[in-house]
Amino acid sequence: MTLYGIGLGPGEPELVTVRGKRLLEEASVVYAPGELAERLARPYAAAIEELEFPMTEDETTLKAAWDEAAATVGPVARDEDVAFVTVGDPKVYSTFSHLERALDAYPEVDIRTIPGVSVVTAFATALDVEIDNSPLDVREAADGVPQHRPPQVLLLKVTDVRKTDAALHDAGYEVTYGRRLFMDDPTVTSDPDTVAESDYFTIAYAEQVGRGGES
Ligand SMILES: C[S@@+](CC[C@H](N)C(=O)[O-])C[C@H]1O[C@@H](n2cnc3c(N)ncnc32)[C@H](O)[C@@H]1O
Repeated sequence: MTLYGIGLGPGEPELVTVRGKRLLEEASVVYAPGELAERLARPYAAAIEELEFPMTEDETTLKAAWDEAAATVGPVARDEDVAFVTVGDPKVYSTFSHLERALDAYPEVDIRTIPGVSVVTAFATALDVEIDNSPLDVREAADGVPQHRPPQVLLLKVTDVRKTDAALHDAGYEVTYGRRLFMDDPTVTSDPDTVAESDYFTIAYAEQVGRGGES
């Protein structure tokens, strides 16, 4: 049978795709990695089970957690259609690929991905900015400000806003932060102090000062 990796969109149940919604309704079990994914999938899922993953970058601990998740999901997906949900898109900075790899141990399980609205595109609407034909660099904040200073930068996983803000301003950018976009309590601000407290669901969008304004 099939494991569907379904993207839930950036934070509102109504931003789940029509196909994603149908497959969530049809899945015998929906597995959710975390509270937000569970909340977004709940309106559509007949049965939902939260899988716990440690908040760590340690490869050995993570691999063990994914092997354990595969041992939970694999035997059920052998006989039934099930879903594993992710916030945003399952193929964009996502954990779904870890589960896919761990499910190599279950070759009889067919795996399909249903794309979702990613924060990588949805942020533009939430921040009311236009992504045009100048390059946009997308990366995790931990990777630092790109050396080649692209005109536009989107940083994900901004956990230390003040540090990120200082690095971006030093590199000649003006910055807007988006926190918990499309959720119940979204924040869009250029003031780093407003979002200084760490929150995993934070992005920074940066534009080079004077971009496109000179002839
Ligand atoms: C591991 S990435 C997952 C991206 C997701 N798969 C997607 O396609 O949108 C998680 C990071 O995306 C950003 N993010 C995701 N959803 C967000 C939202 N609704 N508001 C603000 N940031 C968000 C945060 O920076 C968070 O640390």
